[in-house]
Amino acid sequence: MSGIRHFTDLSAIPAADLRGMLDDAAARKARLKAGERSKPLDGKVLAMIFDKPSTRTRVSFDVGMRQLGGETIMLTGTEMQLGRSETIADTAKVLSRYVDAIMIRTTDHARLLELTEHATVPVINGLTDDTHPCQIMADILTFEEHRGPVAGRTIAWTGDGNNVLHSWLEASARFSFRINVATPQGSEPGETYVQWARANGGAVSLTNSAEDAVRDADCVVTDCWVSMNQEHRARGHNVFGPYQVNGALMARAKPDALFMHCLPAHRGEEVTDEVIDGPNSVVFDEAENRLHAQKAVLAWCLGA
Ligand code: CP
Ligand code: NVA
Repeated sequence: MSGIRHFTDLSAIPAADLRGMLDDAAARKARLKAGERSKPLDGKVLAMIFDKPSTRTRVSFDVGMRQLGGETIMLTGTEMQLGRSETIADTAKVLSRYVDAIMIRTTDHARLLELTEHATVPVINGLTDDTHPCQIMADILTFEEHRGPVAGRTIAWTGDGNNVLHSWLEASARFSFRINVATPQGSEPGETYVQWARANGGAVSLTNSAEDAVRDADCVVTDCWVSMNQEHRARGHNVFGPYQVNGALMARAKPDALFMHCLPAHRGEEVTDEVIDGPNSVVFDEAENRLHAQKAVLAWCLGA
């Protein structure tokens, strides 16, 4: 073990560290709102590599680094020599000579892990085809702000069994909550994520019925039906239609159930306007909390 603090996946980081990051995020958020400006990452530089589009991840990491006193360099895979077949290993070694941390949003999870293997500075997962851990840190922070401790509560997922769900599954073990997952047949989450969550104390149930999944849930979560770089798996409205989060589906959850979505949303597909703009929707709090959660991730990685 190198001793470098990479933020690759929730399954790779001890529960106590994740809880510590959430506590730190809440404290930093409160201090920011009170007007405090400390600069613990003064002089530090974060390189951000994007192989896929982004609004929230890009802006929240950039603003987060600035608020902490650091700076960022924005890179896209196609504009780098990486796009002309320089290896990830060599890229990792070179970037490590210049910058203090690397955030990457990419396709294959293996690319993230290879970067991690060869970098001598912390690497942060800004989404891969398989997982999106920064999002779920922000989502747990958001849930707890609105409803108190997530431990022992029930989260319902309805829709595609994608990267965001995989990180929710890992979170169920790390933060001790139940997750009820409803997907169409053929869109189930990866078996390794389900098994890992169950083996590590997560309570996971899988069904093809959105109605069953949301029953008595404290929070209903969904995401797009077709993720970036998953267009080859695209399936139609007829398959996903029954998994749409609408007023009728929300009515089967607890009366005060929150609605979450990592955004961007495809209104009229996975969620109706009525729900995403409704009183129990916290989607913009989730987006804001990307900033606060990731500042805590950066502080953890860089020892600030
Ligand atoms: N939720 C999320 O990761 O959004 P972006 O794709 O805009 O970064
Ligand atoms: N599952 C989505 C999340 C976007 C933030 C995707 O990977 O496209």
